[in-house]
Amino acid sequence: MSRFLSEWKRSHNCGELRIDQAGQDVTVMGWVQGYRDHGGCIFVDLRDRFGVTQVKFDPAVSKDAHAAADRLRPEWVCGVRGKVISRGTNVNANMPTGAIEVEATDLEIFNSSKTPPFPITDRIDANEILRLKYRYLDLRRPTIQQKIVLRHHVTQLVRNYLAKEHQFLEIETPILSKSTPEGARDYLVPSRVHPGEFYALPQSPQTFKQILMIAGYDRYMQVCRCFRDEDLRAERQPEFTQIDLEMSFIDQEDIIGVVSGLLREIWKEFKGIDIGTALPRMTYAEAMARYGIDKPDIRFGLELVDVGSIVAKSDFQVFKNVLAQGGLVKAVNGKGAGNALSRAEIDKVGEVAQRYGAKGMAWVKVTADAWQGPAAKFFSDEVKAELTTALGAEPGDLLCFVADSFVVGNDALAHVRLELGKKLGLIDDNKFAFLWVTEFPLFDETTENGRYFSKHHPFTSAHPDDMELLATDPTRVRARAYDVILNGMELGGGSIRIHDQKVQSRIFELLGLTPEEAQAKFGFLLEALTFGTPPHGGLALGMDRLVMVLAGTDAIREVIAFPKTQKATDLMTGSPGPVDLGQLTELHIRTAVPEGKG
Ligand code: AMO
Ligand code: AMP
Repeated sequence: MSRFLSEWKRSHNCGELRIDQAGQDVTVMGWVQGYRDHGGCIFVDLRDRFGVTQVKFDPAVSKDAHAAADRLRPEWVCGVRGKVISRGTNVNANMPTGAIEVEATDLEIFNSSKTPPFPITDRIDANEILRLKYRYLDLRRPTIQQKIVLRHHVTQLVRNYLAKEHQFLEIETPILSKSTPEGARDYLVPSRVHPGEFYALPQSPQTFKQILMIAGYDRYMQVCRCFRDEDLRAERQPEFTQIDLEMSFIDQEDIIGVVSGLLREIWKEFKGIDIGTALPRMTYAEAMARYGIDKPDIRFGLELVDVGSIVAKSDFQVFKNVLAQGGLVKAVNGKGAGNALSRAEIDKVGEVAQRYGAKGMAWVKVTADAWQGPAAKFFSDEVKAELTTALGAEPGDLLCFVADSFVVGNDALAHVRLELGKKLGLIDDNKFAFLWVTEFPLFDETTENGRYFSKHHPFTSAHPDDMELLATDPTRVRARAYDVILNGMELGGGSIRIHDQKVQSRIFELLGLTPEEAQAKFGFLLEALTFGTPPHGGLALGMDRLVMVLAGTDAIREVIAFPKTQKATDLMTGSPGPVDLGQLTELHIRTAVPEGKG
């Protein structure tokens, strides 16, 4: 069956024939999308990457071809020779090739296909497990193909912009590598040659790109794979792609300039929108104060207000206790939500606060003559008046309060705000709200046994104005770190690096590494830093997230050809999977896997 005759050379793809070609003899090849038997003639929709062309098998034109076409079934692969003819009055305006059809004189069946487990159309509700197992069939669907093709074009533009227009060099860095601290667990690869020793897959090429700056390469870029063993979410994969870059002799403004310019080119090319050169900016402190989160979605308002000083005068013991312990009480005014949301929906909003760690969410509905709801009774008229002013409260509003630590209180109320934004229909899907967040803290708010945790990564330099705080109050030190946010999602992040070896050693110390540990983990970098390190900095954009937004999907798996599930498995190849005992022995590994599975 699967002869591939040399004279069967394809003349056109399935997306390109138009009425202008009527009368031409052509050869097209593709997959059978569908077929219909219409009183003697068989019509087949032939599909390839480029489109769909209708083929007509008329027994009056070729008895043999018609007889052969009778055997065709969905997803069979074949070649057709014939003449392009006009469809006359039967034009299908919904198809680019809808004005013509190919009247077949010959049919060559290259291969049959089992009946696919789901139809290869754009309107399918097949469950995702099935689609991932048969990924090659899912990838045939035009909507998925469009996303993969879009990703290809984005990659090409990125390379062109950085490498051609801005003198970046694309340099590959190792995959079998040493642990890089980006805050996730490492994927480890055992060494056969060095018993008991392991490579780590890179969480990012961070140390290598810095070393390339030390080596004098000035501007580095790479479209690179990163590996992080972390809890997966809608916008996270265990292996993902970064647009990674690093520059020498620059400051934060240069990085922000280059990356803003790249995003502008991308939006011009793929969305036809000019996002301009000066994307909005906000410091971390401002983002936390106004939105409670370091990646605010600024497509809508409903900003948070710190009402601690007001509610300190209320009778609400929960609020007072939290304040006494150094926590905060913040509120958000869900404009109109008092009228728009039912009691059950308000409870759902409260559940969001709890999901993000708050003990509860107090709320009041503002009506023309009273405050209603479980928290209303705690507020005196004086407190109500002050809250009304602070929150701009009007009849019909829903005031939501959370009292907790800085971290939990802000996070919980930030998500309450997002939930209210969604429920009130305030989020415009057609808007692209970029935001640079700057001046992140160098360390997390929380410490453990006197050790600190990097907010970005240990190579980030401190804000020059905060150098003294590094000795006295490290958690108050601002970093020269910046993120670029799009519609409430972290699209990319980076920093100006430490280029002084002594400062780098001091940071490792604050992170709780002994000099020996620092040497064992990062000795190569510490030493390289002593050989003439230029001031440098960089950033990495999440390619998958970028394409997700451009493609208008909120599922990262849709823009990756071979993605993994939320449980980090590949359902098509069945990885991860057991290996032979022999392989393990060679790698000097013993596992606790039950008998018969190893
Ligand atoms: P960071 O860890 O912020 O920085 O990562 C940069 C960007 O990569 C994307 N990203 C992810 N995308 C999908 N799945 C994941 N699991 C995932 N994790 C991160 C995000 C994120 O903004 N070396 C530094 C960059 C630097 O300092 O130059 C780094 O990796 O879009
Ligand atoms: P209670 O007095 O325990 O009935 O609480 C009254 C309201 O306060 C309830 O709606 C609780 O969900 C809410 N609440 C409890 N703890 C907090 C908190 N830490 N912050 C905000 N609201 C809270």
